[in-house]
Amino acid sequence: MSSFVAVARVEELPPGARLHYAFEEETVIVLNVGGEFFAIADLCTHDGGPLEDGEVCDHQIECPRHGARFDIRSGRVTRLPAADPIPTYRVKVEDGLVYVEEPELW
Ligand code: FES
Repeated sequence: MSSFVAVARVEELPPGARLHYAFEEETVIVLNVGGEFFAIADLCTHDGGPLEDGEVCDHQIECPRHGARFDIRSGRVTRLPAADPIPTYRVKVEDGLVYVEEPELW
């Protein structure tokens, strides 16, 4: 069963902002896009590049290395060269805090 971890106060993550949160096994990027929060793995499935500096446009993040794009809502690939989706994590806001679902260990 997954658990949620508080990663920031809502005011620390205004629209257009992002942050990194290092869980034990995985670093996650938390993004505020138009007032909605999303969380994705900071790892491109094409060649393992970080997505942290990727440009976000229309709910898609572009990998800075070779230009693959992923939908931050679902993780699905929207542009090659990546073929596999990236993990996404549920986000919730409670009492002014942004919580992210902890990646499951395997
Ligand atoms: S590592 Fe991301 S597109 Fe190649």
